[in-house]
Amino acid sequence: MEVFGQYAQYYDLFYGEKDYRGEVDYVDALIKKYALGDARTILDLGCGTAGHAVLLAQKGYSVTGVDRSDTMLSIAEEKKRQMKVSVELWNGDICSVELDKRFDVAIAMFAVIGYQTTNERLESALTNTAKHLNPGGLFIFDAWFGPAVIAQKPQDKMLVAEAGAEKIIRFTHPELDILTHTVSVNFNVLHIANDKVLQSVEEMHKMRFFFPKELEFVLAKTGYEVVEMYPFMDFCAKLTENDWNMVVIARRT
Ligand SMILES: C[S@@+](CC[C@H](N)C(=O)[O-])C[C@H]1O[C@@H](n2cnc3c(N)ncnc32)[C@H](O)[C@@H]1O
Repeated sequence: MEVFGQYAQYYDLFYGEKDYRGEVDYVDALIKKYALGDARTILDLGCGTAGHAVLLAQKGYSVTGVDRSDTMLSIAEEKKRQMKVSVELWNGDICSVELDKRFDVAIAMFAVIGYQTTNERLESALTNTAKHLNPGGLFIFDAWFGPAVIAQKPQDKMLVAEAGAEKIIRFTHPELDILTHTVSVNFNVLHIANDKVLQSVEEMHKMRFFFPKELEFVLAKTGYEVVEMYPFMDFCAKLTENDWNMVVIARRT
């Protein structure tokens, strides 16, 4: 089953309320706090529909985005055009893409690293990112924090989005596997108009969650030192079981 195939056309509708502007201010503040020099270039891994990329470009960064979903990238192209900002976009797999360029900062926002569910894929994604960073460059990504996922357990959810007279309903049924540190998130999307189902889309997104010592180990092995791990959108608090999302700030050694 393709991930971010047909589901991708509804992505911006589902996440219309997501605070991309606040997240970009947060990333910008982390860069200013932790970058060794004046960071100007950003590689946005798993950039999706470019929600962060276009706003970072508006802040004056030179941004390159990579994603493997054609649909997500075509929405990103349109967003770029409408907002009249320049962002370089590439279709590629973050585990293997070769851009022949190095960046001051790499970001992977909204659980992109969690999509690399096996140790091999995780290692490739981190190694390949390190290859695209200048020495001392930062890698900033958010991920699901294992202790919180285990404590809180993923729950079934329903989300209703309106597009004019049409309704898009998303049912989410997650299945937790504590042995592989993954959650299989089953999405069923119903696109309804005039009480008729126009389209029904099913996708399973397998997501990995992470523990601090595991990340410290794999990041050291792939060419980084961990700078900080915080609750996502925080600058100093200690992670607890209440923090489903964490931010990881790592520096290429
Ligand atoms: C939850 S979306 C996040 C998109 C965007 N970063 C945002 O915050 O809106 C995850 C994105 O990661 C991309 N992705 C996941 N694994 C990838 C990989 N190995 N290579 C390239 N893109 C990947 C998906 O195609 C999808 O667009």
